[in-house]
Amino acid sequence: MTQDELKSEVAKAALRYVIPETIIGVGTGSTANFFIDHLANIKDSIKGAVASSIDTANRLKLNGIRVVNLNDVDEISVYIDGADESDHNLNLIKGGGGALTREKIVAAVAKQFVCIADESKLVDSLGKFPLPVEVIPMSANYVKRQIVKSIGGDPILREDLTTDNGNLILDIHDLNIDDPKTLENDLNNIVGVVTNGLFANRGADILLLASQNGVNIIK
Ligand code: A5P
Repeated sequence: MTQDELKSEVAKAALRYVIPETIIGVGTGSTANFFIDHLANIKDSIKGAVASSIDTANRLKLNGIRVVNLNDVDEISVYIDGADESDHNLNLIKGGGGALTREKIVAAVAKQFVCIADESKLVDSLGKFPLPVEVIPMSANYVKRQIVKSIGGDPILREDLTTDNGNLILDIHDLNIDDPKTLENDLNNIVGVVTNGLFANRGADILLLASQNGVNIIK
């Protein structure tokens, strides 16, 4: 199977975690896009979906799936989204597509977070994938200096990208991530940082991982 076929398989497998008659959360990226396409087949079974990005909202609408504002719902039964990396404890790096902040908000509200990925995303230790950090535009250079001084790694401004929230992304290369929860908190404590792409304090509850031998469930 190609990588896209693996993504589609794992996205289809996530349908069984969709709880009928509830509002679900939907992530962003190529794997989440496959999920939206499969979700279209059972769209009448759910009340609606909260989108983690403008792109996802548009794709949901194109598929005839009702999009709901987060402020109009009290709970989200399950959040389904991809990741750029997952370790074996289901700590994640996300934000390769720049949607990390809204993704983190929807994940925080959801009762269950089901991460869907092909097997290339599973790593022993996070950090080979550059860690995205969303920053308020005027703070970008200050945050960069603070990261170099107090965190380490090599933060690089992502060119030609403004997030859905009107902000910028710094990608931190060459990071050693031994303690994802502490690093997530330390980065978020730098003034000007909106949030970062470590999903450790609220990691995934379940990782569905597509391989050539089928979809494995990691809890
Ligand atoms: C979007 O900002 C990201 O968090 C994506 O969820 C992540 O990059 C995974 O994307 P793919 O499914 O395209 O690999």
